[in-house]
Amino acid sequence: MIERRLSGVRRVPVLEGVAGWVPPRVVANDELPAHWQTDDTWVRRRTGIGTRHWVDEGTSTGDLALEAARGALAMAGSPLVDTVLVATSTPDHPMPAMAPVLASRLGLGSVAAFDVSAVCSGFVYGLATAAGMIAGGLAERVLLVAADVYSTLVSPDDRGAGVVFADGAGAVVLRAGEPGEPGSLLAFDLGSDGEGHDLITVPAGGARDRAEPGRYEPVDRYFRMSGREVFQHAVTRMTESSLAVLKTAGWAVEDVQRVVAHQANARILSAVGTRLSIPDDRIVSNIERVGNTGAASIPLALAHAVERGEVHAGERVLLTAFGGGFTWGSVAMVWPDLPSA
Ligand code: UT7
Repeated sequence: MIERRLSGVRRVPVLEGVAGWVPPRVVANDELPAHWQTDDTWVRRRTGIGTRHWVDEGTSTGDLALEAARGALAMAGSPLVDTVLVATSTPDHPMPAMAPVLASRLGLGSVAAFDVSAVCSGFVYGLATAAGMIAGGLAERVLLVAADVYSTLVSPDDRGAGVVFADGAGAVVLRAGEPGEPGSLLAFDLGSDGEGHDLITVPAGGARDRAEPGRYEPVDRYFRMSGREVFQHAVTRMTESSLAVLKTAGWAVEDVQRVVAHQANARILSAVGTRLSIPDDRIVSNIERVGNTGAASIPLALAHAVERGEVHAGERVLLTAFGGGFTWGSVAMVWPDLPSA
């Protein structure tokens, strides 16, 4: 477990651009596959989701990442970054990583580029990685993109995960700044518990599959989640991690003006808010429109909050995520004064 405040460092990571992207195809609950035998009432009641975006044939994670990255770099005002990170668990290929390809598509030259693999916590882990590189003097300006395409990874017969997971991307640009600047990332809490590894998994398609021919079925190449168990862990871990990061940052719960949690399920967001005693009007949510977009969900929610004027310069913002692994993490930051998108 890591619980750290970035204190005593001369260079702090400062957020200077954020953008989101979703593919154009909107899928409402009553357009979901008929054989799922689900309906708008069930999905809204159990998940809070009304619509989600799914890619059309020919579009993949890298295409969404590219659009979000362009938006964040445009807001930041300069494409000059020295590091590109991509957080995803639905990469375009098992190898190589997405980040070098994205950097090349953006024309960024020979920047440092690698992927972060922490499932739905990937964006928070990516922020911590970028922050460490900036604070340690390795990087000046980092582009972090979180993107996932779940619509093609969930089995066509899995209505539980099928109604929840969706496609999207979000990106941020972080630069080296001075302590105390608005936009500073102040404190981090990161953790994992590999005992839960098989509760969110794509069992086949990796080295284990090749090592044990015949062990896996074709359906094992699809995403699999034990929804109920994961639900409980998500609530507990995001609550505990949030409290840990607040303690590390030296903030009281009442100091938090905006919470942007992984948009896993509206009932999870509400349970975390209740346990933290944070009122609903401080909790940013776009799950009704976009569903659960994996690693992309926090930066996408941030981008939508900026578009809708729901987060303001100087506000104390808490980010918290939970995902496969299990992994979880939280960040305390002060929101910057961003140019309009
Ligand atoms: O992002 C990373 C972390 N992910 C999460 O945090 C997601 C956490 N889990 C969830 O969001 C929820 O578990 C789901 C939305 C995936 C499922 O909701 P649930 O309330 O946990 O449903 P369940 O799987 O326990 O199933 C309850 C009932 C079952 O019927 P019976 O056996 O009680 O008769 C299911 O067959 O609901 C049924 N069901 C559905 N009914 C209509 C499950 N999915 C559906 C559906 N439409 N789509």
